[in-house]
Amino acid sequence: MAVRRHATRAPGFDYHIRDRGRPQRKGKGLKTDSGETRRILVTGGAGFVGSHVADAYIARGDRVWVMDDLSSGRLEHVPAAAEFAEMDIADPRAARLIRDVGFDLINHHAAQIDVRASVEDPVADAGVNIAGLLNVLEAARAAGTRRVVFVSSGGVVYGEPETYPIPESAAKQPVSPYGVSKYAGECYLNYYREVHGLEYVALRYGNVYGPRQDPHGEAGVVAIFCNRLIEGKPLTIYGDGEQVRDYVYVEDVASANMIASGMVLEDRPGIDARAYNVGTQEATSVNTLATLLEGVADVQPGRLHREARPGDVRRNTLDTARIRGCGWVPAHSLTEGLARTFGHIAAGRAKAGAA
Ligand SMILES: NC(=O)c1ccc[n+]([C@@H]2O[C@H](COP(=O)([O-])OP(=O)(O)OC[C@H]3O[C@@H](n4cnc5c(N)ncnc54)[C@H](O)[C@@H]3O)[C@@H](O)[C@H]2O)c1
Repeated sequence: MAVRRHATRAPGFDYHIRDRGRPQRKGKGLKTDSGETRRILVTGGAGFVGSHVADAYIARGDRVWVMDDLSSGRLEHVPAAAEFAEMDIADPRAARLIRDVGFDLINHHAAQIDVRASVEDPVADAGVNIAGLLNVLEAARAAGTRRVVFVSSGGVVYGEPETYPIPESAAKQPVSPYGVSKYAGECYLNYYREVHGLEYVALRYGNVYGPRQDPHGEAGVVAIFCNRLIEGKPLTIYGDGEQVRDYVYVEDVASANMIASGMVLEDRPGIDARAYNVGTQEATSVNTLATLLEGVADVQPGRLHREARPGDVRRNTLDTARIRGCGWVPAHSLTEGLARTFGHIAAGRAKAGAA
């Protein structure tokens, strides 16, 4: 589909909104107090998780804008019914757009997500994950935005605690600049709530997997394994492969975002009062993941063991009682989610090969 660029909309506007060609459904979706369809901004909505979240808002009829600088996201992942602003969240134009539209809700997925990149360049990490967030929050405060759904990480904010699965109340001991910047985001949001009355929910994700995940990044072991299996190449496993993670399917994460967008919030102070782990509470080792995916792909090209990578936590599983108490249940088992992801990647590659 051709991408059209609108001319600037009013004198003084210095940004462009791309209308991607498909009208949004009118009259559906959650309403504001005055009965209007809610206007929602999804930052990072061209990325892996953010695009599924934008899809979920569109599916229930909200009006959606996506803001993304396309540094790792892709335009084809932005739902066709969403308006799209290609911009950096740290840019003054992003703040102007937020003030001009006056979003009811901001769902903040845009981030620098690479742990190793954050170790190499903590300043760049903070530029996006802290300064970029503050640019968005200052504009949201000025615009009277009602709620921010902020994406944190249950994989990095806790470090390596004593007990598993990890509850939200566990000590926060991030061991990377990325973990620090994610937790700092929660602390800033808590400040904005206490001082300016800006409501928020922080979702601390486990290891999200599913269609559209970038196999070239650091985070996507499922996507990396799927591609290796399709190519008939051995799976690379760092360390003994017994490190465990909490893998959660991306559509289930999107449904947690829908709940976070509408949940009634208790008037309780404290950072953990606004935080919800999002995972399955199941511990899956990299070796088990490899075995399950070999079964799905019906090939066994072998495994290469490499030295463990410094900074990788040994264990991570999240206690999800809080979000389950709000009515959320992960609808996809790991086997089902892996089969869907593999099928999606295989179909995408077949299509690209045929083109
Ligand atoms: N994938 C996971 O397992 C996981 C786990 C925990 C937390 N998270 C969080 O979920 C969110 C989405 O992660 P993802 O895995 O979908 O990664 P992703 O890289 O696919 O998505 C991030 C998106 O943000 C955009 N972006 C980056 N910097 C930007 C900037 N300065 N201005 C505007 N847009 C910018 C990118 O282009 C991309 O589209 C992130 O906040 C990440 O920290 C992800």
